[in-house]
Amino acid sequence: MSITAIKGCNDILPADSGRWHHIEQSARRIFELFGFREIRVPVMEKTELFCRSIGDATDIVEKEMYTFTDKGENSVTLRPEGTAGVMRALIEHKLYAVDPISRLYYLGPMFRYERPQKGRYRQFHQIGAEITGTHDPLADAQVLTMLAAFFHEICLDEPSLQVNSLGCPDCRPAYRSALCSFLEGRLELLCDDCKRRYLTNPLRTLDCKVPGCGEATATAPTTLDHLCGACNNHFTDVQKYLELSGTPYSINPRMVRGLDYYTRTTFEMVTGLLGSQSAVAAGGRYDGLVEQLGGPSIPGIGFAVGLERVALLLGERDYSVVPDLFIATMGKGERAAAFQLMHGLIKKDFRVEMDYEGKSLKSQMRRADKLKARFSVVIGENEVTSGRAEFKRMADGTEMEAALTVEGICAVLSELS
Ligand code: HAM
Repeated sequence: MSITAIKGCNDILPADSGRWHHIEQSARRIFELFGFREIRVPVMEKTELFCRSIGDATDIVEKEMYTFTDKGENSVTLRPEGTAGVMRALIEHKLYAVDPISRLYYLGPMFRYERPQKGRYRQFHQIGAEITGTHDPLADAQVLTMLAAFFHEICLDEPSLQVNSLGCPDCRPAYRSALCSFLEGRLELLCDDCKRRYLTNPLRTLDCKVPGCGEATATAPTTLDHLCGACNNHFTDVQKYLELSGTPYSINPRMVRGLDYYTRTTFEMVTGLLGSQSAVAAGGRYDGLVEQLGGPSIPGIGFAVGLERVALLLGERDYSVVPDLFIATMGKGERAAAFQLMHGLIKKDFRVEMDYEGKSLKSQMRRADKLKARFSVVIGENEVTSGRAEFKRMADGTEMEAALTVEGICAVLSELS
């Protein structure tokens, strides 16, 4: 029996890779425009890093991590998200000493042992961005504006931005006890997971997908009603700056996030087109994380975009790369001339194809069609002797004659374009 890929781990085939390049190149362009620089960190980290950052009582750490003991008896984990590793690198290389404000982005595979379904996989890809070193609400708005600019760049205007504030260690305890008092009288209505969450992570009961839990917590107190003065001012300023940058958003006071490191601003880009996998991107502020990981007290905020979900939303749009020119040859004798021209043109940045196997002219032209070549030329004895040939625009059959030289072909292709 042949070997297949592991469940929930996908191949990205050539027919789809154009779409992925488009997404990745758009993200790089926008993020670099906003002053972010790429950081690459390992896909594997010490398990302790994720326990300490994401939180022991989260679904990710409790049941979704790919953790194993390596041959040196060390517990290692395939990263379930990118923020923890990037903050580990920030501390390890003292990046804050080079520049107190770090703006970093990253891109790559993440791993979570979740039940696979459309938009939810065990190996998935994120593009994330993190800004550290500032508490200023302007940074929150900048990050959110950049996220919106990325979606605009790839022409996805449907996902909408929802924001919330989860408060800080000063106001969270009072909120947590208000929520627990509310839940106490309704425990019987909650699912088994939420009964457990009530003890370990009560905020998570608010975004349980079980309908009974949604009804039971519909009138639960929200973090926004319990923000301290400083958090309230911070959230008001984030909104003011979002309005100034012209970034549309709505407030979702029930949004809680599945990672423990968040403080104050949290947000999600939400779509109605992917069923229950509605978050295409998500993030928030994590002002205590760097210190919690043994670094100095440095605040931060960032997000990660789920690339599979973005690719699904882009759907059938065609991003395939097509040849500029297909050179067909009448017989064996012209193949050397065609080969030489092809390489001369590739050096000039044209995508050029020719037949490898001495196929018939008809079959060569079928291949030119299949590859969706923009232009074609047929070279026979006459063309080689005269040094001229007819170039055809495949879309409408328009023809134009030109010299069979690299310069002549460059000129005719730009004329016909
Ligand atoms: P997250 O909400 O866990 O946040 O993931 C961010 C995004 O990754 C989700 O909104 C979703 O689009 C995508 N995603 C998550 N799990 C899967 C999966 N199993 N299959 C496909 N896509 C998935 C984080 O990871 C934080 N590190 C974000 C962040 C950065 N917060 C601050 N900075």
